[in-house]
Amino acid sequence: MTDTPQHEPVLLDEVIKWIEPHRRKTVVDCTLGLGGHARALIELAGKDALLVGMDADEANVLFARKNLALYEGQVRFFLGNFSSVGEVLAEVGVARVDAVLADLGFSSNQMDEASRGLSILRDGPLDMRLDRRTPRMASDIVNQVGEKELADLIYDDGEDRYARRIARAIVEARKQEPIETTARLAEIVSRAVPAPARRNRRGVHPATRTFQALRIAVNDELGALDSLLAQIPQILAPGGRAAIISFHSLEDRRVKQAFTALAGTDQATVLTKKPVTPSEAEVQRNPRSRSAKLRVVEMH
Ligand SMILES: C[S@@+](CC[C@H](N)C(=O)[O-])C[C@H]1O[C@@H](n2cnc3c(N)ncnc32)[C@H](O)[C@@H]1O
Repeated sequence: MTDTPQHEPVLLDEVIKWIEPHRRKTVVDCTLGLGGHARALIELAGKDALLVGMDADEANVLFARKNLALYEGQVRFFLGNFSSVGEVLAEVGVARVDAVLADLGFSSNQMDEASRGLSILRDGPLDMRLDRRTPRMASDIVNQVGEKELADLIYDDGEDRYARRIARAIVEARKQEPIETTARLAEIVSRAVPAPARRNRRGVHPATRTFQALRIAVNDELGALDSLLAQIPQILAPGGRAAIISFHSLEDRRVKQAFTALAGTDQATVLTKKPVTPSEAEVQRNPRSRSAKLRVVEMH
């Protein structure tokens, strides 16, 4: 791990525009990361505002604490999954907040750290856990789960049309030797994908979707997101706004559906009719932002 981890906050101007932090007194940042968004939000919210920040990754909570040292008295830090955001707010004694931010997925420093096993391009152990207390790692899934279940997982959570072939190749390969590293898995998946398709995935590694599926499964990412979305009406004050940044269609679909349901029962208004996406300049500067989609809802 580098001494000064880096992560550029995605859609920062847009988050500020839609959350309007100067109008908020209590904000919960469900995905503190390195504290980039949190810093801007608390700075603009003013001296009597409170930010509750949480993250499931202990290292990032520590980095965020350092990066937000200037605002120490106004920030409460929590190590935990945002599926328990309601409990965290109860612990702080805040019944409802004026704004909720969730910037899903992983930060650049997590992605780039080979030992976490998230990067296809950096060889490391097949770990992928966000929270090191999670009992099951990616290698456990890859080496223990049956072929059919593996294929379903890669299809459902990775949306990879070659899921069956990939699952078969994984099961064959693990008979020889357990699959323990990202490089070996990436190679097995690459070889399982037909050559023309491999070439067609312009610049995208053929194992990208398999890695996504494993990450989602290891961390129950969709379950956690569903739980957060279900809590929004309970934790947001009237007039409060929730802003969620997602990075792939499985997440975005859930956010869209949950917000539409809130609007349908007249509990909230969806402020972003279409998802807000990064400008060309931002994508140029920070290619990792390219798939980001921001949706915002306002409670009645
Ligand atoms: C994209 S980064 C956030 C970056 C942050 N907005 C910033 O500006 O530095 C996502 C963060 O969310 C955390 N995370 C992902 N899923 C989580 C969950 N279910 N509960 C809590 N934290 C989560 C990750 O550990 C990571 O630090």
